[in-house]
Amino acid sequence: MFTRSQSLRDYHTFGLAAEARYFVSVRSTAGLKAVLTSAVGRENPLLFLGGGSNTVFTRDFDGLVVHLNAKGKRVVGARGNSVFVRAQAGEDWHELVCWTLQQGFGGLENLSLIPGRVGAAPIQNIGAYGVALEDVFHELSALEIATNEIKTFARSDCCFGYRDSVFKGELKGRYVILSVVFRLTRADHRIRTSYGAISDELQRRGITDPSIQALSRVVVAIRQRQLPNPKVLGNSGSFFKNPVVSAQRFEALKARYPDIPSYPISPQKHKLAAAWLIERAGWKGCRKGDVGMYAKQALVMVNHGGAIGTEVLELARAMQADIHEKYGIELDAEVELH
Ligand code: EPU
Repeated sequence: MFTRSQSLRDYHTFGLAAEARYFVSVRSTAGLKAVLTSAVGRENPLLFLGGGSNTVFTRDFDGLVVHLNAKGKRVVGARGNSVFVRAQAGEDWHELVCWTLQQGFGGLENLSLIPGRVGAAPIQNIGAYGVALEDVFHELSALEIATNEIKTFARSDCCFGYRDSVFKGELKGRYVILSVVFRLTRADHRIRTSYGAISDELQRRGITDPSIQALSRVVVAIRQRQLPNPKVLGNSGSFFKNPVVSAQRFEALKARYPDIPSYPISPQKHKLAAAWLIERAGWKGCRKGDVGMYAKQALVMVNHGGAIGTEVLELARAMQADIHEKYGIELDAEVELH
C-alpha cells in the first residue's frame, strides 16, 4: 500500500526535489481509514496533500504523505433559489467550477482557475476578485484522525477569516477534509464585478451585463495574463499574505506613501497589497539562483527550474527583513512551508 522514498516533485506545483519517507494515495474514506489505522499511519508524522498548490517542500518529509484522491461531485439538494452541490476532496477545483457553470449554477465564477483541489479550499478559505470560499460554503465532512470518526462542520464551526479557518488554527492537524457542500444559485445570480481588474476587463470587452459564464471567462483571462502557469514555471500562487494593519499605522504609511493601495476591512483595520510593497522595495522580477519573484506579479515566487529549498527560504527571509526595515511591516507566508 505504501511507497518508500517517493519523490514529491510532481506532487506540488512549486516543483522542488524533496522526498517523502512513505507515500500513499487514497481514493475513498474507507481507504483513508485503513491508512490511518495501519502501523505506518500510526507511527509516523502525517502530511495530507491535495493538489500541492499551496505546499512548498523545502526539505524531505520524514513521515507519511497521504495524497487525497477521492473523486465525485453531485447535486444533493435544492431549496428556493439555492442548489447544494457536494464535491469530494480530491476533485480539481477549476473542473468543479466549470461543471457548476455548465449546470447554470452561480457562485464560483470569480474563483475560476484557482489551482488546487476541493479539500484544501476551506482550509485557507481561498479567495479571488472579491469572493471567498466562505461566501458559497454550506458545510463539510471531515475525518477526525484520533478517533476515525466523521464529523460535519457548518459554516460557523469553520471560523473563516482572510486566508484562514479553524483548520489552520485550533484544529490544525486533527481532521482530514473528505468533502465540501457548496450553496449555489439556480437563477438571479449575484454577479460580483466591483474588483478593479474585473471591471476594467469587462469594459475593455464592452460587456455591461455579464453572465456567470462570461464572468468566469474574464477571470480566466486576467489570471492567465498575470499569474504564471505552474506547469510552465513552478509556483504556489501568492507566497505571502496581504498584511492587515491598524488604521493608525495605515495613516502613517499613507502620509509617507500617498499612492499606497489599501482596502479597509473594518474601521480599525486596513489590508495592504503585499505585491505593491514588494515591487516598491525592488524585488519584483528579481532572481537569486533558481528562485525569483515573478516579473508580472510581485507576490508570486517562482522556480526557474532547479530551485532548492534553502534558496526559497533564504529569498523569503531576505524579503521579510527588507520589508520590515523599509515599512515596519511583517510579511507572513501564505503558502504552507515544510
Ligand atoms: N500590485 C503591485 N505590483 C504587482 C502586482 C500588484 O503593486 O506586481 C498591487 C496593485 O496595486 C494591485 C494590488 O497590488 O491593485 C493587488 O494586486 P492583485 O489584484 O494582483 O492581487 P493580490 O492582492 O496581489 C490577491 C490574492 C490572490 C488573488 C488576487 C485576485 C492574496 C495573498 N492573494 O492577490 O490569490 O488571485 O488577490 O483577487 O490574498 C493566492 O492566494 O495564491 C492568490 C493568487
